[in-house]
Amino acid sequence: MFMQNAWYVAAWDREIGRTPLARRICDRPMVFYRREDGTPVALEDMCCHRQLPLSHGKLDGDRMVCGYHGLTFDSTGKCVDVPSQDTVPPSARVRAFPLIERHRFVWVWVGDEALADPDLVPDIHWNDDPAWAGNGEVMLAQCDYRLLVDNLLDLSHETYVHPTSIGDARLPSAPIVTKTDGDQVTVSRWVYDHEPAPFWSGLMKHSRGYTGNCDRWQIASFVAPSNVVIDVGVAETGTGADKGDRSKGVTAMVINCMTPAGKDSCWYFWANARSFSIDDEQLTRDIVVNTAKIFAEDKVIVEAQQRRISEFPDHKTVSINLDVAAVRVRRMIEAASRSAKQSTAA
Ligand code: FES
Ligand SMILES: [Fe+2]
Repeated sequence: MFMQNAWYVAAWDREIGRTPLARRICDRPMVFYRREDGTPVALEDMCCHRQLPLSHGKLDGDRMVCGYHGLTFDSTGKCVDVPSQDTVPPSARVRAFPLIERHRFVWVWVGDEALADPDLVPDIHWNDDPAWAGNGEVMLAQCDYRLLVDNLLDLSHETYVHPTSIGDARLPSAPIVTKTDGDQVTVSRWVYDHEPAPFWSGLMKHSRGYTGNCDRWQIASFVAPSNVVIDVGVAETGTGADKGDRSKGVTAMVINCMTPAGKDSCWYFWANARSFSIDDEQLTRDIVVNTAKIFAEDKVIVEAQQRRISEFPDHKTVSINLDVAAVRVRRMIEAASRSAKQSTAA
């Protein structure tokens, strides 16, 4: 259940080079590499001869040579050489997928190629905006990507899943506001005048030398097809952060791009970008390490959930008020997936 006609993050730009990278995206096996001029390429990772994954082969210049009988494909997927004969069968080709490199990620289009509009790449400019600094990682989570979307749209879970870092007892009862704008759904929450959770008190002390109470915000937006961007931060209590003045605080954008791998697995690309202490490279490294630990805690939860869901797929569950955004997003994904299927069938 995912939108077909959309750009999905396939890899960090640094992951794709001159060694073939095999990665399943939206249930399609793909192999990624860069041409000699640096342009990234994505081909179906399955030879049209006897189906060996092309990622078992090797590059010859810009071409991919299958590791079984040597059929050779150019970067458009066309077979250009069959070593054992003089002619190439006209139907010998593998699918090539449109790619775009933007915001430090390589994005792939899995649906109808004619609709692959570069303007549709989600805006996550904080990941490469010079006014921001940060970094991130990728992990394979053994769960439906929508479980991570749910997780990120309901941050009350921080209290229970991340009690030693970003969790705070006040989060679940702090009021939320949910808004929908086109295919973007945003959940906002403010917690005022409180002793900040360790992750945030550490940043306020490190970057601002401040150790008092704070106002905290969490503004999480679902951005189609499967991304959640979260504007988070804390500021000295009562200094007007909720009115737009964040000058007495620290702000970060947590970028989460969940790309379906298969039905019950997904690639979780995340980055934590900040607009304070941007020249502090050690801080960037520390935040990556701490964020990775936090997201490893989420991984345990969503994978355990997935095991139960797979075992009892028809089990009746209940929703609570905090699920409003997640339920809205699921309906949106379902409607978009269904209409793509109908147009394919037509
Ligand atoms: S399987 Fe690829 S060349 Fe035979
Ligand atoms: Fe979490």
